Amino acid sequence: MNTAILLLFLYGLVLADPQAIFLNQYNADMAASNVAVEAGGMLYLASNDDVASLKMITITNGGSSLTLNQLLNQNGLKLASNQLTIKSTIPSASSATLSGFLYATTAAQANDNTFSVTVVNGGQQLNRAGGQTTTVILNVEFKQNFPPFDAPKRTTYVTGINQFGSTSLNFHHGLPAADYQTLKSNQFFENPQYFDNDGGQEKILFKSVEPMQVNLPYWYITADGPYSMTLDGTYRNVIHNTTSVNTTGVFVLTDVWLPHYVNFVTDPTRKGNTFTLVTTELKREAQVVFTNDESAFPATYAPGNNLIHAFIGSNFKSERLVVNGTDIYPGTMYLQYYVWTGYLLPTTTVPTTVRTSSRPITSTTVATSTKSCNKLKVFLSLLVLVCVI
Ligand SMILES: *[C@@H]1O[C@H](CO)[C@@H](O)[C@H](O)[C@H]1NC(C)=O
Ligand SMILES: *[C@@H]1O[C@H](CO)[C@@H](O)[C@H](O)[C@H]1NC(C)=O
Ligand SMILES: *[C@@H]1O[C@H](CO)[C@@H](O)[C@H](O)[C@H]1NC(C)=O
Repeated sequence: MNTAILLLFLYGLVLADPQAIFLNQYNADMAASNVAVEAGGMLYLASNDDVASLKMITITNGGSSLTLNQLLNQNGLKLASNQLTIKSTIPSASSATLSGFLYATTAAQANDNTFSVTVVNGGQQLNRAGGQTTTVILNVEFKQNFPPFDAPKRTTYVTGINQFGSTSLNFHHGLPAADYQTLKSNQFFENPQYFDNDGGQEKILFKSVEPMQVNLPYWYITADGPYSMTLDGTYRNVIHNTTSVNTTGVFVLTDVWLPHYVNFVTDPTRKGNTFTLVTTELKREAQVVFTNDESAFPATYAPGNNLIHAFIGSNFKSERLVVNGTDIYPGTMYLQYYVWTGYLLPTTTVPTTVRTSSRPITSTTVATSTKSCNKLKVFLSLLVLVCVI
């Protein structure tokens, strides 16, 4: 072992990455497992597994042990040492049905009073007072007697988003890393957004944000001011009708896909604009088609040309949107749409423009090489994008 690493071990300064530890990995046939965590971090449990099962899983850290039903009843556990030991007495045949997971933060995150963790298990209001904040959302399993065919395993239904004053709000996939205060390119929702206009950039803060289903086990929110929203664990896939001519919304599609539809209200006296912020990890082709009564603005996203935080749009006036895959398991797509009217882009602009990253809320460290690589990927994907305007 390298001397430096050895010294770190000796001084107990091992820094572990934040992580999610899924309970279905452990069963009675296995010896106790050790997981590297960070002393001083916090450990949370997101689970709606039955209490009898949770009683059969014991965690040990810093010399004390508790069962997971006990952890469920407290708001996290402060980690006293770098080692978390997990022992389950659940038979291997039934352990696979467990959906819950543990989440370990870093010590710096645990000590940061602007960093918080929320488990969504039923409806709740999320209110943050202001300043730069990071809020991690953990979902329990989606359970319903007759679940819809495309029901996700876990979801957050987000409604009533209120960004007070000029608060910038970003939703990110994944878990906040040790350098969580640096903006990454893992945002799947950004409001306000910056649009190229006449050689400059125009900032638009959308007052209307459509309800969204975030079909992920965990995700996180960063903001630079006060905001509120309602979080719930329910799922519905209905034809959504917007009520404002200037609006934004998100689809986070994973696992089983059925078509999703949006009808947009439009202002017949004004021109329109349609932009999307797209990240894909596809196994099969997916289609995002905006239409109006005269024409279409379709985009096809191919597997193998995965996009990271790509910005694609047009001065196209959308009346309808259909998002669909060519298979019921096409992979993952994060799609934010921005549809607004009256805000005229110069008519000489090429119909499709591409931008890979928007203005960050804090300083960004996205490497230039990554940017140009993303751009290449976007252009590759645009080769299959047909504009019928
Ligand atoms: C939206 O409008 C369509 C067509 O007018 C209608 O079929 C659909 O039920 C509406 N959706 C909701 C959620 O009300
Ligand atoms: C969605 O894709 C499926 C193939 O997976 C296809 O059968 C269906 O017609 C498509 N629906 C729409 C509305 O595009
Ligand atoms: C939509 O946005 C445009 C451009 O900012 C603005 O002129 C218009 O008044 C807005 N309409 C509504 C209903 O908010």
